[in-house]
Amino acid sequence: MRVVEVTAYGGPEVLRMARRPEPEAGDVPGRVRVRLRAAGVTMADLRIRAGLYADHMGDLRPPFVLGTDFAGRLLDPAPGEEATLPAGTRVAGFVPWYEELTGEGTYAEVVQVAPEWLAPLPDDVEFPSAASVPLAAITAHQGLGLAGLPAGATLLITGASGVVGRFAVQLASAAGLRVVAVSYEGDESELKVLGAKECVPRGEPAEVVRAVRELVPEGVDGVFDGALLSTPALAALKDGGVFVSIAPDRVPASERDIRVEFERARSDPRLLTDILQKVGNRELITRVADVLPLEEAAEAHRRAEAGHRPGRIVLMI
Ligand SMILES: NC(=O)c1ccc[n+]([C@@H]2O[C@H](COP(=O)([O-])OP(=O)(O)OC[C@H]3O[C@@H](n4cnc5c(N)ncnc54)[C@H](OP(=O)(O)O)[C@@H]3O)[C@@H](O)[C@H]2O)c1
Repeated sequence: MRVVEVTAYGGPEVLRMARRPEPEAGDVPGRVRVRLRAAGVTMADLRIRAGLYADHMGDLRPPFVLGTDFAGRLLDPAPGEEATLPAGTRVAGFVPWYEELTGEGTYAEVVQVAPEWLAPLPDDVEFPSAASVPLAAITAHQGLGLAGLPAGATLLITGASGVVGRFAVQLASAAGLRVVAVSYEGDESELKVLGAKECVPRGEPAEVVRAVRELVPEGVDGVFDGALLSTPALAALKDGGVFVSIAPDRVPASERDIRVEFERARSDPRLLTDILQKVGNRELITRVADVLPLEEAAEAHRRAEAGHRPGRIVLMI
């Protein structure tokens, strides 16, 4: 089968097309195969490719296959808590690449996944949209759960124009929070449609904090740090507030009784089923920035690295 390999740590040019044997049914006990149609290009993929996590990857070394988010069709029946999904079912999900460290990601024609990593796809959600959802929406949902703020509380979302940030804006506002969104210029009206009450422009963290303190002089109740601003963003919080980080190397030390939490997305098939249904019903909006063929994975990484592209870049397989 066709795959894209990281041939060495480095820039996008280290991504190369290669051929690997297609997995057979039952190759890995308990795993089922999915024939992929789309794979999301996530920020974690870029950081892994650049070697930023090289010291935390056990024995795994290039060449390996990147890729977390996927959408496609089941090649094998997938047992679930309530029912078995038959072969042929359209599904989406994410591979917990960084925990598995097998180097068998979703930049490939076929992946082997645990049934609990996937959920069925509603008919009206197309593969590219589906591949933009799982990791980001689950991170946003579980991160907001860790924050545990009551309806009416004020939440600052940094990186609100990003993929995780947009889901966080929508889910937080649906939960009754007052959302202050740090937005990319020109994105304000879209973020307000998604549920932001107020927007402050992105900029130096000190400027962002000043703008937030003008809107909320007593300080916000919580920060969801989608832009990985880390320590400087603490100053936007009131004493005893809550800060949710989504990157292990960007978790600030606590100060002023602030509760600091770190969120790493965990597979949850029920939650993913619910999220995909909401996407199908247009209750949750996802945004695909670009769709490129698998062969252009290096170009996809170049575009993602350049930033300022609201939405997920998706590889079609
Ligand atoms: N913990 C987990 O399980 C988990 C899961 C998924 C993602 N993540 C992490 O979460 C982060 C966000 O992921 P994503 O997919 O949402 O990426 P993304 O779409 O690139 O979003 C990041 C957003 O933050 C903005 N940003 C960057 N620097 C900023 C700054 N100094 N001030 C204000 N805004 C800034 C970016 O704007 P520009 O594009 O204009 O730079 C972008 O809109 C990534 O680092 C990723 O690795 C963690």
